[in-house]
Amino acid sequence: CGIVGYCGNQEALKILLQGLQALEYRGYDSAGISLKSTHRIETLKTKGKVIDLITLITESNIDTKARMGIGHTRWATHGIPSSENAHPHFTDNVSVVHNGIIENYRELEVFLNQRGLKRKTQTDTEIIALLIDFFLKDKTFEEAFKETVKLLKGSFAIASISKDENFIMAAKHESPLVIGLSDNQIFIASDVSAMIEYTNEFIFLEDGDTAKISAKGITIWDKDGQKVKREPITINWSKQTAQKSGYKHFMLKEIAEEDESVRNTIQSRISENGKILLDDEISIDKGFIKNIDRITIVACGTSFYAGLTAKPILEKYTGVKVDVEIGSEFRYYNYIYSKNNLFIAISQSGETADTKEPLRMAKEKGIKTLSIVNVKESAIARMADSCIYTLAGPEISVASTKAFVSQLAVLYMLAFYVGQIKGKQIEKKAKMLLSIPKLIKTTFNNTVEAAKKLAEEYHRYKNFLYLGRGLCYPLALEGALKLKEISYIHAEGYPAGEMKHGPIALIDENTPTVVVAHSKEPLYSKSLSNCEEIKSRDGKIILISDKQADIVDETIKMPEVDYELLPFIYVVPLQLFAYYMALFLGYDIDQPRNLAKSVTVE
Ligand code: G6P
Repeated sequence: CGIVGYCGNQEALKILLQGLQALEYRGYDSAGISLKSTHRIETLKTKGKVIDLITLITESNIDTKARMGIGHTRWATHGIPSSENAHPHFTDNVSVVHNGIIENYRELEVFLNQRGLKRKTQTDTEIIALLIDFFLKDKTFEEAFKETVKLLKGSFAIASISKDENFIMAAKHESPLVIGLSDNQIFIASDVSAMIEYTNEFIFLEDGDTAKISAKGITIWDKDGQKVKREPITINWSKQTAQKSGYKHFMLKEIAEEDESVRNTIQSRISENGKILLDDEISIDKGFIKNIDRITIVACGTSFYAGLTAKPILEKYTGVKVDVEIGSEFRYYNYIYSKNNLFIAISQSGETADTKEPLRMAKEKGIKTLSIVNVKESAIARMADSCIYTLAGPEISVASTKAFVSQLAVLYMLAFYVGQIKGKQIEKKAKMLLSIPKLIKTTFNNTVEAAKKLAEEYHRYKNFLYLGRGLCYPLALEGALKLKEISYIHAEGYPAGEMKHGPIALIDENTPTVVVAHSKEPLYSKSLSNCEEIKSRDGKIILISDKQADIVDETIKMPEVDYELLPFIYVVPLQLFAYYMALFLGYDIDQPRNLAKSVTVE
């Protein structure tokens, strides 16, 4: 979910709606706003997207001159997506928006019921509004809000307004909340993308913080109720990177930006002679790094596949065993760490609950932790002992693309860095990595039309198989995930050699297979044998390779690349193919159904 709030000398409505549109990738099944005028709060909310909310507002006579308000875009957890369950939730006196889950809402409901107060919706958030309202009987709004927050258990970011006060109260615990600073106006939002239009000065609230925000200034209290000063941080994300800049969808724009994302991620971290310059960012003792005996990577979704893709590279250059684990499983499983274990959390958003919790658990056990994160100052970035940022800029499309290649870039650099400390010769490969951005660009230019043409031909098929071996295997998984996410076509990724042990039963003229294979890979001829097996069962084959093969139906011809570096470019046509498939099917590419970009709940 996404939260936004505004207090200042401009009309709040436009700013709130713009903010909500920027935050929509966090959830988009319902949206709403509350505006405060003199002693009155007006709320409008609806099932659907911000655009539906705008239609509702246009047809209403809400006071568009209001200078303060809050807004919300939702990804349903408690209660189905509906106008009723949409935020803000309100009483006669207050209005509340909330991101996260209130775990003890049943207990709190009993407390309210005993006092004759009942929920009208199915959401846990309404409890917050009712509690504030209840405490307002003998307290000020500020006190009532603080009293309510004290009772809440779970993860939350909350913003609330009262009909009688000209300030917003906000609280943060395990869900992000950022304050944007500007002259005579203050913003609050789940992340900076909602505010970069207006400011680049931000205060990141910490867990347990409560804040009072008005056009005149802000006051922050920490978890013990003590007033604290939190230093503002400047973030130089430009407005353009959060806009479509002529592209039809963010996804296509972000694939087109992959070369730049990797360049930004590596250029100041690899010297011309192939030295990895990560000393300033990795605060973990070199003695420890030298003796690392295992690396444990935890992540979800596309970030998980980035980990899986880099695993053999990490193993080769660090000389240690690498486990790559799914966050939601890892957190409920008793992982046995080795003596000098390094734990790595990978996350674009830096907020994913299923990745954050394993990181917290590892820290609790005293394991050395490192995170690879795209969103500055996010929870996972701050929590780990060290964080290496991917410098991909804001990724807006729900389906992750440029973050993936940037994560790969960091993982490769990390492999080389540990190798370098251990005295291995890594310079040649590190220098090769410097040439990758250019090759990504060439790949995009050379494959975009081919991917489109294939999608035009293949978008009516209902099932796909994706196969690869070695470094191409995790790419097959990622390619299949992209297709599922945005085109809603069933796709399975498999190691090519495993096909004969099951998936081959699916092959017929209606189930095409995408085979990812690099001609220099040790198992290339075996991948071609798999193609023979598919052909003899009438299956169609799309081959993604640097070498043409007669047996397949279609080939997306790839530029030459060093085998170990192939993931950076071979993923590009897989992403483009998924994009165009969804385009031909007419789906909402940047905001696919049921998904959200940052999943801050379990
Ligand atoms: C969600 C998104 C995916 C993403 C995954 C992990 O499921 O829809 O695109 O890969 O979360 O997100 P993270 O921000 O932790 O990389």
